[in-house]
Amino acid sequence: MTNDIEETLYSEEEILKRVEEISMQISKDYEGKDLLIVGILKGSVIFTSDLAKHIKIPCSLDFMAVSSYGSSTESSGVIKILKDLDEDIEGKHVLIVEDIVDTGITLSYLLEYLNVRKAASIEIVALLNKKARRKADIKVKYIGFDIPDEFIVGYGMDYSEKYRNLPFIGILKREIYEK
Ligand code: IMP
Ligand code: MG
Repeated sequence: MTNDIEETLYSEEEILKRVEEISMQISKDYEGKDLLIVGILKGSVIFTSDLAKHIKIPCSLDFMAVSSYGSSTESSGVIKILKDLDEDIEGKHVLIVEDIVDTGITLSYLLEYLNVRKAASIEIVALLNKKARRKADIKVKYIGFDIPDEFIVGYGMDYSEKYRNLPFIGILKREIYEK
């Protein structure tokens, strides 16, 4: 599996260090507020777990599943809600946890979708930010790392449902998805 990786971008230690920093910041910013963490399945599930573990204030946890990519490396532009929230978000401070913001199309659609539910606030935390490919103008409150325009796998992120279990973040060899 690691033979398919061109280069390690962030090691397990580097990721955890950054995740802890973000969790500390969130704990400060949301002190005294009714915080709901919303992980976007499946890519952000490992990030969401690590982030939540280090948040020091009470919060609840929910998940949504959206489809934006098939098995290719390019966004289809078609976004479907596969699993909605279990909880009502009215009056809550919602923090959406995303693995990677690429074009931003998924998140801008999701924000629009959730906007009518009267949350106290809706913000985004993304582990990775691929700025060069942004198409939709969205505000991301917390960013783990700005990354180059490469295809990334590991730490929850996949190519064709593979590599999610790698503990580090790596660049996938082009020959894997260009063949
Ligand atoms: P966007 O709508 O283009 O911003 O797509 C965001 C979603 O596409 C992310 O949540 C990921 O699930 C997926 N994605 C984008 N770039 C990559 C990548 O380099 N590796 C794995 N998944 C990616
Ligand atoms: Mg995703």
